[in-house]
Amino acid sequence: MKSITILGIESSCDDTSAAVLRDRRVLSNVIANQSVHEQYGGVVPELASRSHQSNIVPVADQAIKQAGISLHEIDAIAYTLGPGLAGALMVGSSFAKGLSLGLNIPLIEAHHMKAHVLAHFILDNKQGEPDFPFLCLTVSGGHTQLLVVSSTADFKVIGQTRDDAAGEAFDKSAKIIGLPYPGGPLIDKNAQNGDPNKFKFSKPSLPDLDFSFSGIKTSVLYFVRDQMKENPAFIEENKNDLSASIQKTIVDSLMVKVKKAIDQTGIQRVAVAGGVSANSALRGAILDLRNYGCEVFIPKFEYCTDNAAMIAVHGHYLYLDKKFGDLSSSPKARYAI
Ligand code: KG4
Ligand code: ZN
Repeated sequence: MKSITILGIESSCDDTSAAVLRDRRVLSNVIANQSVHEQYGGVVPELASRSHQSNIVPVADQAIKQAGISLHEIDAIAYTLGPGLAGALMVGSSFAKGLSLGLNIPLIEAHHMKAHVLAHFILDNKQGEPDFPFLCLTVSGGHTQLLVVSSTADFKVIGQTRDDAAGEAFDKSAKIIGLPYPGGPLIDKNAQNGDPNKFKFSKPSLPDLDFSFSGIKTSVLYFVRDQMKENPAFIEENKNDLSASIQKTIVDSLMVKVKKAIDQTGIQRVAVAGGVSANSALRGAILDLRNYGCEVFIPKFEYCTDNAAMIAVHGHYLYLDKKFGDLSSSPKARYAI
């Protein structure tokens, strides 16, 4: 059978990425992070669009060179149609459309959250890929969802956040304790040397499989504010214990729902996806599900946070299903799974 070579393009938030996959194997996966947002404590959409604009051509060029292929070996271009920041998506979509027209090859519209899940099917994950159906906890800066995945094209949402995403809970709590954006990875790093049981923050208690994270951030804010009145050095003196306690609160809240979903659906294959799945405590908690009789799947670090390899693998399956895109499609800031 002829091999399939897909160029993936990702520009939904603050990472510009291009990747080349041949038959789901990664030939290249280039990511340009945008440090410009650090000083603002969050992603500034207009600055993200401008950075994508200056990064997209060099990043794609590097991905093709690293892959060691010529442009004419690409069978199709998959790009993120949504969800994400409209202006940021527009840059990747315009680039992909222009290149597909120039090369006269099909365009494929990828869904960012489905792509996070399908990162498990990149042929680079040592543990192998999950059989269907499996449960997937998808946790990123903008989304928190529990899904039943029944095929590479069949995703059913069984739970989701009613307010903040898990990544937002990490980033906003991190900001309260003085860490720069994105604070999630820094909380993880500080937590390695902290006591997760030192401080207690209020945990959400929603029925069903839905999540809520806005209360955690408020609980951290009020607690820290009260402590600082008595000791202005409180944050500095307790940064590691605060980080570990915040991390434990968020991970415990996620895991309660994962266990509930296993019990309710009877599905014992559990995967995790999205930027927050890079978190070491969450990875540990998912691995512990093996003691619960589950088979677990955790992507390699580089395929957890935003990357174009996951867009290309999603593109691979859409290519097989002959689901091609259209030059007239507009980016979708909101895009149901
Ligand atoms: O999937 P992603 O790269 O981008 C979105 O689609 O949103 O996820 C980014 C999120 C950010 O909130 C970031 O703080 C969080 O993932 N994150 C982490 C870690 N690495 C990334 N959160 C906690 N611990 C980590 N190690
Ligand atoms: Zn993402």
